This record gives sequence, C-alpha cells and structure tokens, in this order.
Amino acid sequence: MTDSITIRAPDDWHVHLRDGAMLRAVLPFTAASFARAIVMPNLVPPVVTTVDAAAYRERILSALPEGSTFTPLMTAYLRDDTDPDDIAAGFGSGVLTAVKLYPAHATTNAAAGVTDFARVHAVLARMEKLGMPLLIHGEDVAPEVDIFDREARFVERRLAPLLRDFPGLRIVLEHLSTRVAVDFVRAHAPQLAGTITPHHLVETRNSMLGHGLRPHLYCMPVVKTEADRVALVEAATSGEACFFLGTDSAPHALGRKLAPVCAAGVFNAPVAIETYAGIFDQAGRLDRLEAFASLNGPRHYGLPVNAGTVTLIRADWEAPRDAAVDGPEVRVAAYRGGETIPWRIADAGAPE
Ligand code: DOR
Ligand code: ZN
Repeated sequence: MTDSITIRAPDDWHVHLRDGAMLRAVLPFTAASFARAIVMPNLVPPVVTTVDAAAYRERILSALPEGSTFTPLMTAYLRDDTDPDDIAAGFGSGVLTAVKLYPAHATTNAAAGVTDFARVHAVLARMEKLGMPLLIHGEDVAPEVDIFDREARFVERRLAPLLRDFPGLRIVLEHLSTRVAVDFVRAHAPQLAGTITPHHLVETRNSMLGHGLRPHLYCMPVVKTEADRVALVEAATSGEACFFLGTDSAPHALGRKLAPVCAAGVFNAPVAIETYAGIFDQAGRLDRLEAFASLNGPRHYGLPVNAGTVTLIRADWEAPRDAAVDGPEVRVAAYRGGETIPWRIADAGAPE
C-alpha cells in the first residue's frame, strides 16, 4: 500500500476566491495547497476588463499569507459588450490568462453573462487567433430544460457548434458533472478539455437529496447520478490529458446557504487536494494523480508545470468545520467539515 506520494506542485484551474473579508478568509486554504489558480471573475460587479482584473489581482496578492508564493491567474467575465481589443491587450500584458463564459443567468452572479453567442463572435475570433483559452460554464438554463439535463443540452446544442465555428479556440468545459460531458470532452480533445471538482467525484443527487436536503452539497451544475459519478472518477483517474483539476471551491456565508433560496456553491478548498488523493487511492490510481493535478492543466493552457513538489501522506486528520469571515459571527461552512480525512499534505518542496 502506498502511504506517501510526491507530485509536482498542483494547480487549481477553477476557484472562486471572492473579495474583501471573504477573500481573506478563504484564500489561505487555496494558497496552502496550490501553486497557481484560475480565479473566477463572477464578483459583484463582475471582473470584466483588464483594468478590473489587474485591480482584483492586486487585492488577492495583498490578502496572501506572509511568505506565500501562490500565483493567481486572472480571468475576464465575458459579456455581450466585451471589447476584443481589451481582452487581447490583457492577454498580451499577462494580466489575463483566460476568458470565462457564463450563459446569462446560468449560476451565481451570472446575470450579466452572454445572452447570445453571436454577440461575442468577435471576441472569440480574436482569442482563437491569440491562443487564449475560453472557459465555459456549460449549462442550458432555458426554463423548459430539466435541471438534470442542463449540461447535456448545452453540450449538444451550444458547445458542439462553438467548437465547429472556432476550430482553433482552446476551450475548457468546467466542472463536468455527467457521463455525456465526459464522453464529449474525450471526443473533442485536445481542442476541448474538462475540469472535475472533488465534490462531483464523491457526491450524487442521492447524497444531496436522498437522506434529507444537504444545502452544503448544492452547487451548479448540481451533482448527478451514481453512473455519472463513476464516469467522472474514471475520467479523472484515467491520466488522459483532457481531464484536469478544478475545485470550483465556491464559498458562501452560512446565512446564504441556510436560506429559503440556498446559494449554489461548495467551499471545498480546506479538503480539496486531500479529497482528490483519497479518490485516486480508492481507485488504485495514485500514480495518475500528478497528471490530473499538476501536468494536464498547464499543458492545455500552454503554461510551464510548477518547479516545486508537494508530498501527500496517508495520515488521518479532522477537516475544519468552517472558516471565520471577518470575526466569529459570519462563517462559511467547509465541505466534509468534521470528517476524518485519510490523506494530508506533508510538506511543500522548494523549487528545484
Ligand atoms: O455552484 C456554483 N457556485 N457554481 C457556479 O458556477 C458558481 C459558483 C459561485 O460563484 O458560487
Ligand atoms: Zn465555478
């Protein structure tokens, strides 16, 4: 039995770090486990321009714990009125790494998202030319589409034409939740890749709804069936270059989760890399954790892999139940809080 594994330092290719007090509360967890992270732009108001992204990056860097070498990789929130020249300038200057497409109203703070793909044609054409990745929240939220079919519908009706219209555009379909999406990504690699969250590898709609309603497991896209979960585990642990790590850690204050209208999002940063390690261990595929967590993402983005290493060891520890946001009264509940977790980070290696 393997009790220790050393891998290149991992990256999180999809995280919500928020802003202000919430940023200060949650950033240390991501920075403790990941060398870099793709930071989602769905703040209120959203991060739309290069200037917005540069300012947000500064706020993240100022909120980092002393001595941290964590690097935030910034994204711009695509809107119908996004200026292609601004996106190109942001990418050229290194402020922007990617652009995020939320279909309008698809999820938290997506009200200003794209209403019609035709309206962002010029931006996508420019990104295609530049080699700048497009990140997609892939759900069709039309009222007649059942919530459990939103991803499959988006993939078939919206993503397939997009891939055809922009054959040179590198795309990441984020937080895969279905077997349909897994198969679709595989069939369209390497143009298309997909990220997979820890909670979509563990939870199903049964665990979310089948034994009392668990608001802390509610996210977008919602967790699906056991067959979908198994397909996601197979994909993540396959070593295939088109699947890589993106936690979609998405904190909300407890009051917004325990509310008549529960906010979507799972705050998994405190247990993310440890949960992935557990899944790979259970699958007998710890040898492929490095590809998923540290190699496949940089390859898709055309970025170097990290120089440092991280060692994970088999050792029980208790996951924190929550994190305090600016004083004890506002808290954010953590995924798997209070559970005994069988893997943990031993130490972060120095760059070679
Ligand atoms: O569950 C989710 N929460 N899915 C998203 O796409 C957005 C995120 C958030 O920002 O809270
Ligand atoms: Zn997200």
